[in-house]
Amino acid sequence: MASNGQKVVLITGCSSGIGLRIAVMLAKDKKKQYHVIATMRDLKRKDKLVEAAGDTYGQTLTLQTLDVCSDESVRQCISSVKDRHIDVLINNAGISLVGPLESIGMDEMKKVFETNFFGMVRMIKEVMPDMKRRRGGHIIVVSSVMGLQGVVFNDIYAASKFAVEGFCESMAVQLLKFNITVSMIEPGPVHTELEVKMVEEMSKKEFPGSDPETVHYFKNIYLPSSIDIFETLGQTPDDIARCTKKVIEAPHPCFHNMTNPLYTPIVALKYADETGGLSVHAFYHMLFNLGSLMHVAMNVLKCITCGCLRGRTVTPS
Ligand SMILES: NC(=O)c1ccc[n+]([C@@H]2O[C@H](COP(=O)([O-])OP(=O)(O)OC[C@H]3O[C@@H](n4cnc5c(N)ncnc54)[C@H](OP(=O)(O)O)[C@@H]3O)[C@@H](O)[C@H]2O)c1
Repeated sequence: MASNGQKVVLITGCSSGIGLRIAVMLAKDKKKQYHVIATMRDLKRKDKLVEAAGDTYGQTLTLQTLDVCSDESVRQCISSVKDRHIDVLINNAGISLVGPLESIGMDEMKKVFETNFFGMVRMIKEVMPDMKRRRGGHIIVVSSVMGLQGVVFNDIYAASKFAVEGFCESMAVQLLKFNITVSMIEPGPVHTELEVKMVEEMSKKEFPGSDPETVHYFKNIYLPSSIDIFETLGQTPDDIARCTKKVIEAPHPCFHNMTNPLYTPIVALKYADETGGLSVHAFYHMLFNLGSLMHVAMNVLKCITCGCLRGRTVTPS
């Protein structure tokens, strides 16, 4: 149970990756400022979290079951919190989906929206009335750079994160009136199970329904570039956890918080040309004409943006 003055932080999707590292980092805060309620849909997957939490487990970190896709599970979990008092809600649970659209079933697409978008909506809907009554709270959403800029073959995942961004941008205005802050965390690639699951799945898949030319572009052009980007630009879940802690502790938290400064120019491209042509054509050339130069381009990008644009992003250090 939270002791006096501790902020109650509830996080979704803590069995692995970013959610696990945010939970542990906040639980291990030297000033013991937080009581963390780390949630996951299947408590059988708790071992990694419990091990990483060490002696904070049962002290500043407690565990609860929560499936963001179930009304009942969300209601039960929030009602089990003392006085339903949550100071900081971190919506982190999410799944990815990548591949040629023709080979993806509608049910698979709906599952992505059910988890990434409606899962977040379900959480906010349950927690928001109590925050409104108390006139205070902070809602944090782990979105993605793909919520700001679409990426080829990530059509459905990017759409789900765009939906998340649109929803939160709209809610943020109303909630400000109730002294509730909304912040988006927008990572680029991060080395987690999400990436591992994606690469494993893609290497096994046949892509029925897609024509051979599209499958060739996906398997032989997109996938190698994507792996290269992950290797060159990927952050660690700890990087994202540090950024998130910084956002929680900021006196005036920003709405957008991109965690990777290397992505600032890519998103800026979109706003530099209101017709959208610049970013569509830049991505086209990067993928189809400059594929083999991608690795070099990544490193150049890394060099030219290392210092000057950092001020605009929440850097982990
Ligand atoms: N990795 C990246 O490159 C990257 C980049 C930008 C944004 N993000 C975002 O970061 C967030 C965390 O992803 P990650 O990279 O840390 O991946 P991850 O290691 O696969 O973690 C995802 C977490 O979400 C949980 N989850 C999935 N469906 C759920 C449900 N219905 N209810 C509750 N929990 C559920 C998973 O639980 P199970 O163990 O039960 O599956 C897992 O704990 C996601 O929102 C993702 O979109 C990731």
